[in-house]
Amino acid sequence: MPSQGRKMLVTSALPYANGPIHLGHLVEYIQTDVWVRFQKMRGAECWYVCADDTHGTPIMLKAEQEGTTPEALIGRIGSEHRADFAEFGIGFDCYYSTHSEENRELAGEIYHRLKDRGYIEARTITQLYDPVKKMFLPDRFIKGECPKCGAKDQYGDSCEVCGATYSPTELKNPVSAVSGAIPVERETEHFFFKLSSFDGFLKDWVHQKGHLQPEVAHKVDEWLETGLREWDITRDPPYFGFEIPDAPGKYFYVWLDAPIGYMASFKHLCQQKGLDFEAWWGEGSDSELYHFIGKDIIYFHALFWPAMLHGAGFRTPSAVYAHGFLTVNGEKMSKSRGTFIKARTYLQHLDPQYLRYYFAAKLGSGVEDIDLSFEDFTQRVNADLVGKVVNIASRTSSFIRKRFSNKLAGQLPDRDLFQRFLMASEEIAGLYEAREFGKAMREIMALADVANQFIDEHKPWVIAKEPGRETELQAICTQGLNLFRLLVAYLKPVLPKLAAQSETLLAIEPDQWPDLETQPLLNHKINDFKPLLQRVDPDKITAMMDASKESLASQPQGALAAEPIAEEIEFGDFAKIDLRIARIVGAERVEGADKLLKLTLDLGGENRTVFAGIKSAYDPENLIGRLTVMVANLKPRKMRFGLSEGMVLAAGPGGKELFLLLPDEGAEPGMRVK
Ligand code: 2FM
Ligand code: ZN
Repeated sequence: MPSQGRKMLVTSALPYANGPIHLGHLVEYIQTDVWVRFQKMRGAECWYVCADDTHGTPIMLKAEQEGTTPEALIGRIGSEHRADFAEFGIGFDCYYSTHSEENRELAGEIYHRLKDRGYIEARTITQLYDPVKKMFLPDRFIKGECPKCGAKDQYGDSCEVCGATYSPTELKNPVSAVSGAIPVERETEHFFFKLSSFDGFLKDWVHQKGHLQPEVAHKVDEWLETGLREWDITRDPPYFGFEIPDAPGKYFYVWLDAPIGYMASFKHLCQQKGLDFEAWWGEGSDSELYHFIGKDIIYFHALFWPAMLHGAGFRTPSAVYAHGFLTVNGEKMSKSRGTFIKARTYLQHLDPQYLRYYFAAKLGSGVEDIDLSFEDFTQRVNADLVGKVVNIASRTSSFIRKRFSNKLAGQLPDRDLFQRFLMASEEIAGLYEAREFGKAMREIMALADVANQFIDEHKPWVIAKEPGRETELQAICTQGLNLFRLLVAYLKPVLPKLAAQSETLLAIEPDQWPDLETQPLLNHKINDFKPLLQRVDPDKITAMMDASKESLASQPQGALAAEPIAEEIEFGDFAKIDLRIARIVGAERVEGADKLLKLTLDLGGENRTVFAGIKSAYDPENLIGRLTVMVANLKPRKMRFGLSEGMVLAAGPGGKELFLLLPDEGAEPGMRVK
């Protein structure tokens, strides 16, 4: 499809504002950026927008852990993301934030439109609530035993051992991953988006006009067959997000306002560029809308999102393009192997152009995972980019400089060869358009081989030594540089920096996509050659992987990662807690209580009764006689089974892994711990 006259809006998925960009993310941003740059070069009016995805519980909790506000956290991460993307050459026309006024307004408007049209329903549901942290728990923040296979330490929504999915209230022995408390069930009113009302619309949409890749449409069909469930779009406080306009104290779930963030980012761009937002997003818009996403978020983009847009009277996407995940050296990215590589760590060691080229060379239009093998990476970049492409310019431009004061010849010795390169233009364009970048790179490298053959056959380094062959030498080098120019123009969507440097070398305006009318550069003065691209140095790859391992060493691990250290307190706060050595003189099971043991503690003259939630880890018989530590001045608590007059101290995540504190030899009941 020729791009001239096309109006296109393209997005990549919005990265969460609670962590750094890593190489896995970059597959998508590089893929989208290449496609957008290609469309722009072909003359389309093409806009590329994105934003940080800033809302939700994980961001709220992370800010709390860091002792900062969510606003400050997303501000800092937003700047880091922008800097990473800029250095990788990701050319967003607008990179915004979902925590913006535009997004608040659009989310409110879409919600109201959906509600007015009867697509929103309120219902009271039962959810797990953390009584210590005083918050409803998202599924990912609840851990417990799988109700199907009994595997321990599973999340609230699915079991990683047997693959079962369930609701968090079904989990056995659930524990809040936020505070370690045992969650309780609590009722709350939530709003639901009635996705099932769009069943007919979606069944058509997924199969029309290339909206989805065939394998994705197939998967979505399965979901449509199973039946669409209503979608809970509400979250209760504390929550970092947008308050629902007509329901104060209720918030939009992050996934409601995240895709609306695409619109908000574009709206922001409209204000800067004087574009008409309605013309792009209104129903019946003649512009095209493309979303590039990872295969893990297809449900949101192929079902919820088109339904929301359609239901609210906006245009729907022209296509959603999913890609696979990244593996490194054949395996899932791993922090311990040093293959979980942050964008920033990569940039400290290697040229971003290598990765752009490598990913392009591996990407196709499907959803297969792609592997970054560092051996292959080194070999391809060195052989293709340095050995084949850049080499053409370095081999020929030095003669043009030294012998012809940088001036190109007046004609090409092999005009047909130049024309043959131009004739490849539409085929390569077709591959870019179809997101078959790997195939496009192979075509371009086949042409680079032809260009090198031409130079090898004409041997300018031999001619240069033979007197009287000046004209021939100039013509051969001119031919080489003209072929180089076309190769670089074809590679420009992938390697915009190399292209810009080459355009400077050739002293030309930024190139558009070549076509049959493109004229060779003749009688034209170029600039001095400057090195364009270095070879990949394998030592730098090793250093990058070592640094990725090191940066992990400074990260909290295990228990510390699961429960970060609490907020700082004054000594006075600590001194208020009266910790005493106690001897367990009685321990028994409590009828009707699953988790509790009734302990009798001797404080050296005074006995206390304490109900402790340690039954899963201890047989009462084994406890009698041992010393431990208790909080002696805790206000007595009335429990169903009696009065609990303190608390014993234990560590561990729960279940069998609970470990009572044991004082060192010599400690006596009643001694204060301080
Ligand atoms: O999965 C994710 O990383 C989400 N932050 C993607 C959001 S994409 C869009 F819908 F906003
Ligand atoms: Zn299981």
